[in-house]
Amino acid sequence: MIETHELTRRFNGNLAVDRLTVDVREGEVFGFLGPNGAGKTTTVRMLACLIRPTSGTARINGYELGRDNQQIRRICGILTETPGLYEKLSAQANLLYFAQLYDVENPEAQVRKYLQMLGLWDKRDEPVGTFSKGMRQKVAIARALIHEPRLLFLDEPTAALDPESAKTVRDFIEELKGEKRTIFLCTHNLDEAERLCDRIGVIRQRLIAVDTPDGLRRSLFGRQTEVQLAEVTPAIVDAVSGLEFVAHVKQDGNRLRISLADPDAQNPVLVEQLVRAGAKVQYVSEVKHSLEDVYLTLVREEAR
Ligand SMILES: Nc1ncnc2c1ncn2[C@@H]1O[C@H](COP(=O)(O)OP(=O)(O)OP(=O)(O)O)[C@@H](O)[C@H]1O
Ligand SMILES: [Mg+2]
Repeated sequence: MIETHELTRRFNGNLAVDRLTVDVREGEVFGFLGPNGAGKTTTVRMLACLIRPTSGTARINGYELGRDNQQIRRICGILTETPGLYEKLSAQANLLYFAQLYDVENPEAQVRKYLQMLGLWDKRDEPVGTFSKGMRQKVAIARALIHEPRLLFLDEPTAALDPESAKTVRDFIEELKGEKRTIFLCTHNLDEAERLCDRIGVIRQRLIAVDTPDGLRRSLFGRQTEVQLAEVTPAIVDAVSGLEFVAHVKQDGNRLRISLADPDAQNPVLVEQLVRAGAKVQYVSEVKHSLEDVYLTLVREEAR
């Protein structure tokens, strides 16, 4: 759905996005993570035809950025950091305006659908200027969706929302995902990224890494099994370390963290060996590093 090649943007000579080459597949939720000032919003603004790249190319659904911007705009929806809504107009009037701008068929019904979905139907006649931040955010989301775009750019959609509103929006994103739309999601909320994203790209001007959350975990930390025993003795540690497929063993009290390449096949052998060495096995589980660990490791390594 999105293919970029060495997409670059400078502001007054300073690199905001540096030769970004990335592929976003149709129907996936692609998370875009990176520190403040990493170039996430700049990337989104380029891809949604709001600003021009300094160099590099991009194709959106086969359309070429810079040449086919009209077509690209028609299939993209964008939620930006600053939703440009008309303060004096009601929520409904705002959305009707954008619906007409996009030549939406049956604009009234479409506006009603999204106001209802986002729980704003009762407030439809009130000026957006009187809305809270979260309510505005929801109007902005409705605006991004009003023309049923196949590709949606969401730039921090849940920033500044209360936990319940954030959950509404997250559930809503999951629904959109179910509809096979492609979603490009910038967020600082790593739990959100973990929950929603099929793949994640980490950027800091240039792209640092891109993979599924599990893929990122594995390439950084490998795979590890944790076993909790009634008691860990030196004989048990020796028995485990002696297994040819065990790369590394770390003891922490009565727990062992064991690095191995293929836990599905190797855990049964591991447990057998533990029992044979006299261990009383209480728990066996997979060590799952948080996305926060993954993210911080990537960004810190890059900084060095
Ligand atoms: N219109 C502009 N004029 C000058 N510099 C800009 C402009 N827009 C962005 N920049 C610069 O480009 C860099 C990337 O900014 P960008 O907004 O893309 O970061 P971001 O990853 O979205 O950060 P955040 O997480 O804070 O939203 C920053 O150094 C920023 O100062
Ligand atoms: Mg931003």
